[in-house]
Amino acid sequence: MAKRKKKTPKKDKRKQEKIKANKVTVSTPKEDIKKELKISAIEEGTVIDHIPTDAAFKVVEILDLENHKGVVSIATNLQSKSIGKKGIVKVGGKGLTQEEVNKIAIVAPDATVNIIKNYDVKEKIKVRTPDVIDNVVKCSNPVCITNNEQIPTKFYVVKKDPLKIKCHYCERIMGKEDIEII
Ligand code: CTP
Ligand code: ZN
Repeated sequence: MAKRKKKTPKKDKRKQEKIKANKVTVSTPKEDIKKELKISAIEEGTVIDHIPTDAAFKVVEILDLENHKGVVSIATNLQSKSIGKKGIVKVGGKGLTQEEVNKIAIVAPDATVNIIKNYDVKEKIKVRTPDVIDNVVKCSNPVCITNNEQIPTKFYVVKKDPLKIKCHYCERIMGKEDIEII
């Protein structure tokens, strides 16, 4: 006998659909709606959206989500009109500190941080790439003083998009592919 598919309880389904129904514009292709529904809405927490797809796991690392006790959903390679392919990270039961938002801005300059309360987007923050990055990124130059002595790193942002930063100490220029978060 064929097994019956486990059904989402009707109440939950309605809740999810209601949330999307408020957001979806008439011009949203049906295909996109289906894709969006694959990642459940969260009740309380933070959604980091519009992450360049290859930076989604860096965001996970920045937020130390491996050790987070609440729900974490990570999606990559989603279609985005503004940035091509994007990633999304949804974290249940967690707010972000300003320091965490600043770090995210370095790997995801177009990210939006959505604060969710009771299933609603209560606040939407557009991250901003800082002009100076203090003690967040490791210098890729092995002989840089910051890799040999107890000195916090410091970089100047030379270009925001694509990101190019310059070490205050050894003047090494680094691109986004060289970036390793401390
Ligand atoms: N979201 C969620 N859980 C909720 C509400 C929203 O996971 N309870 C997610 C949505 O799936 C979306 C993000 O939070 O990825 C932002 O939601 P919303 O502002 O409703 O979507 P958009 O209008 O598409 O956002 P933007 O304009 O920033 O692209
Ligand atoms: Zn250096």
